[in-house]
Amino acid sequence: MRGIRLSDRVIVAAPPGQGKTTLIEYIVWCLQPLRTVLIDPKEAPELRHIRPIVRDVELLPEALRGAVCHWIPHDVEDRDDLAAGFEAIWALHKHGPRVIWDDEAADTSKPGWIAPGAGKLIRRGRAWKQLYIAGTQRLAETAPVVRTQAEHIIALTPAPMDIDLDKLSQHIGINPRQLKEMLDELHEEAGAHSHLWHVQATRETRRMVACPPGPHWKTRRIQQAARAPDAEGQPAPTGAQEPSQPDREGLASGG
Ligand SMILES: Nc1ncnc2c1ncn2[C@@H]1O[C@H](COP(=O)(O)OP(=O)(O)OP(=O)(O)O)[C@@H](O)[C@H]1O
Ligand SMILES: [Mg+2]
Repeated sequence: MRGIRLSDRVIVAAPPGQGKTTLIEYIVWCLQPLRTVLIDPKEAPELRHIRPIVRDVELLPEALRGAVCHWIPHDVEDRDDLAAGFEAIWALHKHGPRVIWDDEAADTSKPGWIAPGAGKLIRRGRAWKQLYIAGTQRLAETAPVVRTQAEHIIALTPAPMDIDLDKLSQHIGINPRQLKEMLDELHEEAGAHSHLWHVQATRETRRMVACPPGPHWKTRRIQQAARAPDAEGQPAPTGAQEPSQPDREGLASGG
């Protein structure tokens, strides 16, 4: 089964509260040990345990050398700040595999704008195993590159509003009406937090049950597993396999 590889781009789309952050955290947890960069523009309370937290972009270059870096941008309207932050993240792309988790891509990008560093990361980061996973409440409000480059498109149930459904439909290649039926039907059958997982490479659309709800895996914190690069800035052996298969346990429910 085609799983998520460190060279992939993943987008997780759904209206508020359907379980994007939980699912991404589960995927990131499954990938540990792996250096982790969390970009958290909404300052999500449920992500407070992922530390250290950095707010000032001036402090990011140093913080990014650690095993985990949780960046909360001061103000998502401040494009210079976002651009500087993503440039700092991109600057370390040759220092070994990482997962870059952008928790709300409609805040960190717009249909007409993306931080140049984020654009480079998404388009050119594959060769350096810079796994990019983005969540969004509003797929239509993200920069097109976030969607067009995605190897995996995950949509939680039930179906989103029409404008976002249309974008999903374009990228998954299933017409909007049929896609809405699939999402709503899955929601009825498998309940809250179930999702369709579309894999571009194989054109599969998998029907997935909710990921495990948390505490038992959340208690083993992400930073306890990942290791920092050494003092020279050389990549630490992360132990992450290529391909990583977070779908092997718990996530796969058929398809
Ligand atoms: N797989 C799951 N099993 C059980 N509960 C879940 C699951 N996924 C999410 N939840 C619960 O649903 C609520 C919303 O989840 P989450 O914060 O992940 O949603 P979200 O889509 O990221 O929301 P937002 O759009 O506000 O960022 C939380 O209380 C969370 O614990
Ligand atoms: Mg969230």
